[in-house]
Amino acid sequence: MKGIITGFSCSDHVSLTKAPAFVKVILFSFLSLFLFLLVRQFSSDITSVSNPTTPSRKFPMSFTSTPNQTTSAVAGENPPPSSSSPPTRQPGMAVERTGIIDENGAMTNDFMVGEFDEELIDSVVNGKNGSDEGLQSDENGGPLMGKIGKFRVCDESMRDYIPCLDNVEEISKLNSSGKGENFERHCPPKGKGLDSLVPRPKDYKLRIPWPKSRDEIWLSNVHTPFAKDKAGNTWVKRKGDKYIFPGDGTQFSQGANQYLDQISKMVPEIAFGERTRVAMDISCGIASFGAYLMDRNVSTLSIATKDVHNNQIQFALERGVPAMLAAFTTHRLLYPSQAFDLIHCSRCSINWTHDDGILLLEVNRILRAGGYFILAAEPVHRHEENLFAPFKEMENLTERLCWELLKEGDISIWRKPLNNSCYLSRAPAVQPSLCDAGDDPDNVWNVNLTKCITQLPGNGYGANVTAWPARLHSPPDRLFSIKMDAELSRREIYKAESRFWHDIIRGYIGAFHWKTLDLRNVMDMRAVYGGFAAALHDFSLNCWVMNVVPVSGSNTLPVLYDRGFIGVMHDWCEPFDTYPRTYDLVHAAALFSVERNRCNVTTIMLEIDRILRPGGRVYIRDTTPVIEELQEVAHALGWVPFKYDSSEGPHSNWKLLIGEKRL
Ligand SMILES: *[C@@H]1O[C@H](CO)[C@@H](O)[C@H](O)[C@H]1NC(C)=O
Ligand SMILES: *[C@@H]1O[C@H](CO)[C@@H](O)[C@H](O)[C@H]1NC(C)=O
Ligand SMILES: *[C@@H]1O[C@H](CO)[C@@H](O)[C@H](O)[C@H]1NC(C)=O
Ligand SMILES: *[C@@H]1O[C@H](CO)[C@@H](O)[C@H](O)[C@H]1NC(C)=O
Ligand SMILES: *[C@@H]1O[C@H](CO)[C@@H](O)[C@H](O)[C@H]1NC(C)=O
Ligand SMILES: *[C@@H]1O[C@H](CO)[C@@H](O)[C@H](O)[C@H]1NC(C)=O
Ligand SMILES: *[C@@H]1O[C@H](CO)[C@@H](O)[C@H](O)[C@H]1NC(C)=O
Ligand SMILES: *[C@@H]1O[C@H](CO)[C@@H](O)[C@H](O)[C@H]1NC(C)=O
Ligand SMILES: *[C@@H]1O[C@H](CO)[C@@H](O)[C@H](O)[C@H]1NC(C)=O
Ligand SMILES: *[C@@H]1O[C@H](CO)[C@@H](O)[C@H](O)[C@H]1NC(C)=O
Repeated sequence: MKGIITGFSCSDHVSLTKAPAFVKVILFSFLSLFLFLLVRQFSSDITSVSNPTTPSRKFPMSFTSTPNQTTSAVAGENPPPSSSSPPTRQPGMAVERTGIIDENGAMTNDFMVGEFDEELIDSVVNGKNGSDEGLQSDENGGPLMGKIGKFRVCDESMRDYIPCLDNVEEISKLNSSGKGENFERHCPPKGKGLDSLVPRPKDYKLRIPWPKSRDEIWLSNVHTPFAKDKAGNTWVKRKGDKYIFPGDGTQFSQGANQYLDQISKMVPEIAFGERTRVAMDISCGIASFGAYLMDRNVSTLSIATKDVHNNQIQFALERGVPAMLAAFTTHRLLYPSQAFDLIHCSRCSINWTHDDGILLLEVNRILRAGGYFILAAEPVHRHEENLFAPFKEMENLTERLCWELLKEGDISIWRKPLNNSCYLSRAPAVQPSLCDAGDDPDNVWNVNLTKCITQLPGNGYGANVTAWPARLHSPPDRLFSIKMDAELSRREIYKAESRFWHDIIRGYIGAFHWKTLDLRNVMDMRAVYGGFAAALHDFSLNCWVMNVVPVSGSNTLPVLYDRGFIGVMHDWCEPFDTYPRTYDLVHAAALFSVERNRCNVTTIMLEIDRILRPGGRVYIRDTTPVIEELQEVAHALGWVPFKYDSSEGPHSNWKLLIGEKRL
């Protein structure tokens, strides 16, 4: 804590410390009593750790809340486990707004129960330093003014700064071998990372809500795109203070929906929204492919390189479509093997046959057994067709990869085999060879690409996932191949995690009005089995979740994909590959207590601030000392922090910190 505080000025230190001690004591007693009552109404029962198979850290306290919410919020199919609901609720206690920002980003003042003097709380909490009673006065829902000064705002030129991709110094040192190394991650060295707040553009506006944002976004929120556009493209039009994306005749000559219909007609087995649930779109334009697939219950991750003239990913995210920066270069992409049921590349300017097809081998790794690869050369863009390897070469390569060519033409579709039998029956001299048996295809963090074919698991895992939506809740085969300590029933852990988050999200919906928050781009910084994302889906929150699996824990990514979610491996000691201001909700449960042993948590908090949209929220659940520490940082970041306690009382081990980044 000391380390964090040093270096900041204490400009807004409203002090009560100079007041006579007895006044303080009286004030604190009053406050404590009041807050105690308040907390009792506010946070209600605790779901205790009911699963003996996991350390308690994995199942922190539950914040189930008001008794009022159940009728409106429960989706029905998944009743809460009776074992975890002790009957300590106090009926009839309606909770009003809990200090949530309204649509305009202003703090609403109808701030929960009763009458109290907010100013009094603020001033008392401010002066809490050194007082024993004061420590308990934190348990309130009001904004806390921290003791430390604010971070400074970075230079205006850094408003679209992505630390690992904009490291000009490192990139200029590269001896380019033409493999796109300049698009890879080159993170600033330790201690040289971001230490200020990335500024937002002038005239930044609160985003347009989904689904309207699929068709229009604010001009002022994104960096002027396509400035150097030669192709005279019609992906995006400017209209007043907005960019509009006409639903028809854009990236796809006949409109995205017709294009998808065409694909479905060509290969009906693709079955969008059933057999095909998770897709990838490479170099996606402005992610219209994914935006329109969403209506068909397909979750599409759009990826592209960072390109200053074509900042497609920023557009995609501003629209509210799943996207991140990633490049096919010299390292494995940060997705597990057999992740995507379908991979799509329309004029994606990648030479798939180059270097003995090393990049297509990477596609092969992340494509699910029996999955589809679609390569489209749009007639509109025929003048760029020379960017593709001649089709014969492509055909030759895919044949050696045992892919079955289903359709050939402007849209070509291949299918990956379901098992290794074809690989094993190839002539021995045929290249590329098979990867070593010792190669772990799910090991992706900082792993070089190699020219070999990733074999499928001999036991058929991954090849036979249940159709969506049943896939969401049925424990997949690959649950059993994850490397982790627990030898006890993984199926039970998986189910317990789902139940746990189901209860918590129900609480959040009731207490924090998640249904009215209009969440869209959500990140779970430590997803484990994806119970959080599953709960958001079950409660029909109209959002998508980027499930991040930190390198500091078990690699559960295959399970997340088998459930039908998207996710990515990441080391939170480093910045994430996304533009600033791209997520509406960042969620971190039991993350900081792990990462604080690996790196500086202030740096992680700065990174969260970078990727959080103004108007966005951060939900952090962690142990009490960690939350105390983070609360200080949250305030220094200019968020409005709220700390919540469970009914276990102020000495409970787990707390919830909510930070609001207001416009
Ligand atoms: C829920 O609370 C609202 C007020 O916030 C109240 O009007 C409504 O009757 C309550 N519903 C139930 C089922 O208690
Ligand atoms: C808090 O109290 C400690 C000693 O109790 C003192 O050293 C420190 O300067 C105080 N901090 C502030 C911000 O007043
Ligand atoms: C780049 O090339 C120069 C000389 O050609 C060499 O001195 C330098 O070490 C190389 N840098 C890297 C990162 O390989
Ligand atoms: C953590 O990072 C912050 C901001 O970059 C810095 O002020 C602080 O000194 C660092 N703390 C430690 C312990 O390195
Ligand atoms: C998508 O899934 C929902 C249920 O999860 C279903 O009601 C809806 O009909 C599906 N839409 C399509 C186009 O399949
Ligand atoms: C792609 O790479 C292959 C093999 O290196 C080469 O023959 C072909 O000309 C390349 N295509 C383009 C458009 O550069
Ligand atoms: C594929 O190309 C290789 C050399 O690039 C050639 O030896 C082989 O005969 C080709 N295979 C087919 C089926 O055309
Ligand atoms: C392997 O997959 C192929 C289709 O790709 C299928 O025809 C064959 O029966 C499968 N073999 C086994 C042993 O499952
Ligand atoms: C990855 O490739 C780079 C450059 O070719 C090489 O320096 C490095 O040792 C390789 N790493 C591993 C683990 O093989
Ligand atoms: C795939 O799973 C379904 C249902 O779980 C099962 O009926 C079917 O036999 C499985 N197919 C294979 C090839 O394992």
